[in-house]
Amino acid sequence: KYPKRIFSGIQPTGIVHLGNYFGAIGRWVELQDSGEAVMCSIADLHSITLPQNPQTLRENILLTTATLIACGVDFKRSILFRQSDVSMHAELCWILCCITTMARLAHLPQFKEKSESLKNVPLGLYIYPVLQAADILLYKATHVPVGQDQAQHIQLAQDLAQIFNRQFGQTFPIPHTLISDGPSQRIKSLRDPTKKMSKSHTDSKSRLNILDEPDVLLNKLKKAITDFTSEVTYEPEKRPAVANLINIHSLFTGKTPEEICKEAEGLNTGQYKLVVADVVIEKLSPIREDILKLTKEPAYLDKILKEGAERATELATNCWTEVVEKVFS
Ligand code: ADP
Ligand code: NA
Repeated sequence: KYPKRIFSGIQPTGIVHLGNYFGAIGRWVELQDSGEAVMCSIADLHSITLPQNPQTLRENILLTTATLIACGVDFKRSILFRQSDVSMHAELCWILCCITTMARLAHLPQFKEKSESLKNVPLGLYIYPVLQAADILLYKATHVPVGQDQAQHIQLAQDLAQIFNRQFGQTFPIPHTLISDGPSQRIKSLRDPTKKMSKSHTDSKSRLNILDEPDVLLNKLKKAITDFTSEVTYEPEKRPAVANLINIHSLFTGKTPEEICKEAEGLNTGQYKLVVADVVIEKLSPIREDILKLTKEPAYLDKILKEGAERATELATNCWTEVVEKVFS
């Protein structure tokens, strides 16, 4: 009885790598191209759970907006907006904080990971998943496309929807996750295929960023680790580093790993890395150029975000009004 609504978000950190591209943004664009509208939130309230320089944060918000548009997010069909432009995210977060428990949050794995290295842990980092639940519930979202790493946070959003509904009457749909299980969900580090490609790794050669210049991409791929076998074969368990290169190649071209291995017959892995570099450079160059063009027009990007915020505010207000009536009257 709730209309289908897809919600997703991305933190404006300034780096978007191929893991984010295939695992998140690309899937939103796929959904959108199949006729769905997607709510894309630039999650700046989430960013400030760790210290941010305001000027850099603003630049990164615009850069992320430009990146999403260049990757194919259609801001007319979908709703692209900045989270902090809709204050009801924080307001609903407060209501949800009051119906969750500290014990429920303590076991979430991302908090453990992110707080491990900190001497003083911000409270915001602890309640981060509640804000994520508020993001989703505020729009009565029914579907949330996220990577496997987010599954437990969506579980919390589902629990909070249920708790609220039980306590105050039916209000929120139970949001479903849209987790696909293809190779796009598991882009690996170029330096250590037991780890996922991530912006938090200190070795910057471990990831291919959308904004990397061609010579940087080529260099990183040349330095990508392989193994002691020289042929190109697709064996994800036995040869994860080579399989990762083939997956990236496959995701960009639509060719199957089998087709790719057949074409690479006679090449050693060193030569094959150059083939992958050609593909990556060819696919990313137009996107990089679009991003750079868009970032030269901050006023245009601001206008897109403002319009997105207006549309998001309208949807959020309906829900928030209902919540306030139920909780306070
Ligand atoms: P990072 O791990 O680099 O900090 P984020 O946590 O900001 O990236 O992730 C943003 C989105 O990108 C999430 O939906 C996440 O599931 C997806 N994602 C991140 N890294 C990868 C990866 N290596 N492969 C596939 N998807 C990924
Ligand atoms: Na992450």
